[in-house]
Amino acid sequence: MTIRVLTLVGSLRAGSHNRQFAEAAAAHAPEGVTVEIHDGLGELPFYNEDLDTETGAPEQAQRLRQATLAADAVLLLTPEYNGTMPAVLKNAIDWISRPYGAGALKGKPAVVAGTAFGRYGGVWAQEEARKAARVAGANVVDELLLAVPFSHTRFAETHPKADTEVVEGLTKALSRLAAEC
Ligand SMILES: Cc1cc2nc3c(=O)[nH]c(=O)nc-3n(C[C@H](O)[C@H](O)[C@H](O)COP(=O)(O)O)c2cc1C
Repeated sequence: MTIRVLTLVGSLRAGSHNRQFAEAAAAHAPEGVTVEIHDGLGELPFYNEDLDTETGAPEQAQRLRQATLAADAVLLLTPEYNGTMPAVLKNAIDWISRPYGAGALKGKPAVVAGTAFGRYGGVWAQEEARKAARVAGANVVDELLLAVPFSHTRFAETHPKADTEVVEGLTKALSRLAAEC
């Protein structure tokens, strides 16, 4: 059986190091695990209950919900913006949290990881992302921590794919997600 892991990245930047984490996860996925990187979070409208009707949510929201439903587990990769997660990731979590009690995230194993420029590697953002994902119904694995500091310098010349700590951390995260499925 193949375990499908969907990654949602909290940065829209073309050169995003968190997106590179997602690429590293895809490149080093353990046997039996595939990693899909979801594109389109930049085009996802801000969550609005008026848009989320029985006749249909916006196209990007439907795409995100379908991708989440089709996945067995979710890997959230995020930088930290002003001490919390970027709005783009929170917005994605909001869309997949609804309908209340039956959102696409419900019951999915989830891990939060990432990198930020600050010396704590974005731990506040990660805590907030874990909290939001848990409230949205995900089965969040708390004890796996991968918050890599000084992103801009550490990954200036080295892709996270070639960083031993990152690769080990992401591989462990994927194996744990697979074990939770
Ligand atoms: C609006 C904004 C706020 C930021 N606030 C923080 C912060 O609170 N803590 C931190 O460690 N880094 C902060 N940073 C730096 C980001 O962590 C850094 O730019 C990160 O590498 C971006 O991730 P990316 O490479 O995936 O785009 C901030 C950056 C921006 C643009």
